[in-house]
Amino acid sequence: MSPRRPAPEESPSLVAEIEGYRRDPEFLATLRGRDFRFRTAWGLFSPREVDLGSALLIEHLDEVGVTEGADTVDIGCGYGAIGLVLASMAPRGETWLLDKDFVAVERARLNAEANHLTNVKAVLSNGLSAVPPGRLFDVATANLPAKAGNEMLTLILADAHAHLKPGGRLTVVTTNALRRFIERMFEELFGNSEKVKQGRLHTVSMAEKR
Ligand SMILES: C[S@@+](CC[C@H](N)C(=O)[O-])C[C@H]1O[C@@H](n2cnc3c(N)ncnc32)[C@H](O)[C@@H]1O
Repeated sequence: MSPRRPAPEESPSLVAEIEGYRRDPEFLATLRGRDFRFRTAWGLFSPREVDLGSALLIEHLDEVGVTEGADTVDIGCGYGAIGLVLASMAPRGETWLLDKDFVAVERARLNAEANHLTNVKAVLSNGLSAVPPGRLFDVATANLPAKAGNEMLTLILADAHAHLKPGGRLTVVTTNALRRFIERMFEELFGNSEKVKQGRLHTVSMAEKR
């Protein structure tokens, strides 16, 4: 008979490790010259630091033209890295943060409060399903969930187009592998597509509703 394996509670180091995981990761990040504090959760996207693709999109928000009074939406907000930067750039507008993961929405809400951003609405939403039909935005952003599949991505892009004001812009970041798909979808939905920046791993793409 093989020797009995110790129960988890018999291993102090494992108990300590598990207890450690019960504490949410937290970190500070300076984004566009402003310090943000993010509380995340294990299992959320990029819980230890702002993702490189999101950081690339944030770096290029100047090209998007976010005004102080802009109404903005970040689709697939996670714990709020992109959306809270949008909210800080548009303090007189309203910023919606959408995610289909309730833990992400909860953390996005907490992070808005922790960073003193009061113009934020964090909502549980499959794509833009929770946004009422008449609610239109000046700016939409997304670090698109590549694993959602092309069908869901197409729905997200089409619904983002429907929820933009004339002249409104959708800016997305994807891995370079998805760049051509985004370009094709932007051309079909918006009639235009601009490559804002292509990095080693990610591409930031933008389209304008005309
Ligand atoms: C690549 S992560 C980006 C997260 C966050 N914006 C960031 O920069 O850290 C994509 C996010 O989209 C969310 N997501 C996936 N499918 C979705 C859907 N159908 N509707 C809304 N959000 C979705 C995931 O839960 C995840 O938080």
